[in-house]
Amino acid sequence: MSAPIMVSEQEIQNQYTYLDAVSRMIGGRGKRAYTHTFGCQQNEADTERIRGMLAEMGYEMTDSPEEADFILFNTCAVREHAEDRAFGNIGALRQLKKQRPDIIIALCGCMAQQEKNVEKIKKSYPQVSLLFGTHALWRFPSLLYRVLNGEKRVFDIGGEDDIAEGLPVLREQGAKAWLSIMYGCNNFCTYCIVPYVRGRERSRRPEDIEKELRELVAAGYKDITLLGQNVNSYGKDLGLDMDFSDLLRRLNDVPGDFLLRFMTSHPKDASPKLFDTMADCPKIAKQLHLPFQSGSDAVLRRMNRRYTAEDYCKLIDYARDRMPDIVLSSDIIVGFPGEREEDFQQTLDLVRKVRFDLLFTFLYSKRSGTPAAEYDDPATPEEKQDRFARLLRAQDEIVAARQAAYMGRTLRVLVDGAAKSPEHPFTARTEGNLLVCVRGDGIQIGEFIEVDVEKTSLRCLFAVKKE
Ligand code: 5AD
Ligand code: SF4
Repeated sequence: MSAPIMVSEQEIQNQYTYLDAVSRMIGGRGKRAYTHTFGCQQNEADTERIRGMLAEMGYEMTDSPEEADFILFNTCAVREHAEDRAFGNIGALRQLKKQRPDIIIALCGCMAQQEKNVEKIKKSYPQVSLLFGTHALWRFPSLLYRVLNGEKRVFDIGGEDDIAEGLPVLREQGAKAWLSIMYGCNNFCTYCIVPYVRGRERSRRPEDIEKELRELVAAGYKDITLLGQNVNSYGKDLGLDMDFSDLLRRLNDVPGDFLLRFMTSHPKDASPKLFDTMADCPKIAKQLHLPFQSGSDAVLRRMNRRYTAEDYCKLIDYARDRMPDIVLSSDIIVGFPGEREEDFQQTLDLVRKVRFDLLFTFLYSKRSGTPAAEYDDPATPEEKQDRFARLLRAQDEIVAARQAAYMGRTLRVLVDGAAKSPEHPFTARTEGNLLVCVRGDGIQIGEFIEVDVEKTSLRCLFAVKKE
C-alpha cells in the first residue's frame, strides 16, 4: 500500500503566511475566541489545533460565547442527538449575530463533511460565515483570512485523505494530553458514519509521533492518550515493517515519568502481541477500551464487525491472563436494526461474563448514507428503551461490586485536579483510569502518589494518601 499523502511543507508554510496576515489584522486588538467541541477525543484534539492557530493569530480564549469575536463549533455526526445539539447551539446565536454582525460564527468537524448538513447550514443558518470539514482543518488560516477580508460566506468541504504536520496546538493545561497517531477508518461498520466523514485510514510517521511525545513529556504532561479510530491497524499504510505494538514499544522507551493509553481498538485487529506488549511495557497503562457493540453473532455479522462473541471473550481472557488488574471498558449499541430480544440477551450475557469496569452504552441512531439505515427495524422505541434500561441496571450491579473490591487496596494514582468533595479535595486517576477522590497532606496536582482506598461508590473510589 502506498504511504499516506503528506500536505507539503510549502503548503503548510503558506498557511503560516495567512496566519501572520490574520495576526496583523486582529492581533493586539483584544479579540477573543470561543470554541465548543462535540463528540470524541479526536475532535477535541482537532479543536486544540484550531485553538493553537487562533492563539498564534492573537486571539485570547474565552469561555463565554457572548464575549467572543470568533465562535467555533467543532461538530460530531455519530448520532442524531449530537447533530441536533449543534444545530440548537448555532440557532441560538442568531440573535447575537444580529446585535453584533461583526462576530464570526464558524462550524467544522464531521457534520461539515456531510452534504445534507452543509445544505441546511447554507439555507437556514445565515449566521454561519465559515464552514470547513475535517479534511480542510489545516487550511483554517487561509479560510479565516478570506472571511476577514469581506467574503460573506466561506465553505470548504473539499480535501484529500492526507496528513498535515507542523501546525500549532494549544492544549488544555494539566496532566493529560491527546496525541493523534492516525486518522480515518476503513472498517465501514454498517451503522457508522465515521468512514464517510473522516476518510480512509492514514498513519502518522513514527518519528513525528515520537517527537510530539517527547515534547509533551518535556512540557510536563504525564497521562498521554494515543488517538485513532482504530489504532490497532496503525502502520498498515506506511509500508514500514512496524505495527501498533512496535510503535508502543518505541514510545515506551521515551525517557520520563508518564503513562500512555490508547483508543480506540477494534477486536478484529487486537492481538495477543498487543497484550504481550502492554504487559511488558511499564509505561503503557493496563487499560483497554475494546468496543464489542453486541453480544449476538447475528447482529455482529450485520454490523460488519468481523468477529464473534467467542473471539471477543478469548481476547479478553488472554488480556486478563497477561494483566490480571487490567481495567476494561467497551461500547455497546442497543437496538441495532433487527436486534431481537434473544440477541439482546446475548449482549447481557457477555456483559455479565466479562464484567467490564466501564461501559459506554448507546441507543442505535440511524445515519443516512450508512447500510444499516436501510435495514428493517421492527423493534419499537419502547422495546429499545426497555433493553437499554435493563443493560444499565445490569452494569450498575457489576460496577458496584467491582468498585467495592478495591476497598483497602493501595493504588498508584496521578493527581489531576480539584474535587467537589471537601473531605477528599483532589481528583486522581489510577493507571486503569478509574476516578479516585483523594485526601492527605502535601498533595500536588500533576504528581503520582500512592493512596489507600477507604471508601467506594459507583462512580468514584475515595482514598487517603499513604504516609
Ligand atoms: N448509533 C449509535 N451508536 C453509534 N456508535 C457509532 N455509530 C453509532 C450509531 N449510528 C457508537 C459505537 C462506537 C461509538 C464511538 O459510538 O458504539 O463505538
Ligand atoms: Fe465507526 Fe467501526 Fe470505524 Fe469505529 S471501527 S469508527 S465504529 S466504522
